[in-house]
Amino acid sequence: MKIGIGNDHTAVALKNEIAAWLKEQGHEVVNYGVDTEESCHYPVIGEKVGRAVAAGEVECAVLICGTGVGISIAANKVDGVRAAVCSDTTTAHLVKEHNNANIIAFGARIVGNEKAKDIVKAYLDAEFQGGRHATRIAMFEEIEKRNERN
Ligand code: RB5
Repeated sequence: MKIGIGNDHTAVALKNEIAAWLKEQGHEVVNYGVDTEESCHYPVIGEKVGRAVAAGEVECAVLICGTGVGISIAANKVDGVRAAVCSDTTTAHLVKEHNNANIIAFGARIVGNEKAKDIVKAYLDAEFQGGRHATRIAMFEEIEKRNERN
């Protein structure tokens, strides 16, 4: 799978570890994040990754900042993005199964390296369940269309 990854300055080491681990499993990883710990602005990375996912450059993506929150808020501003912050594996598989999340986010200050890998694995192994959940995903798109009219 072609997977994007993006991070701010708080998450360089964790990004590198997750990217290497994904590559070991045969995934292609596209790095949209920063590679130094010099302070940067996480909305820039969140938007970049959100646009890459929305455009189909990558099938899904992993976003990491201090909490996972700021960078996911930025990504969610892009139409078609469903970025979900997860700190546990139950949420990680449910956001794929029910919300068809196309970006998973977490915080380098919140989860350790092994938990982060467990979260990404739970997300990648899960499948969207469709049905009533697809009806609700379509409602997200309707909200985006109403925004365009304003
Ligand atoms: C950076 O200090 C921090 O605010 C950022 O990584 C993130 O936690 C924002 O949500």
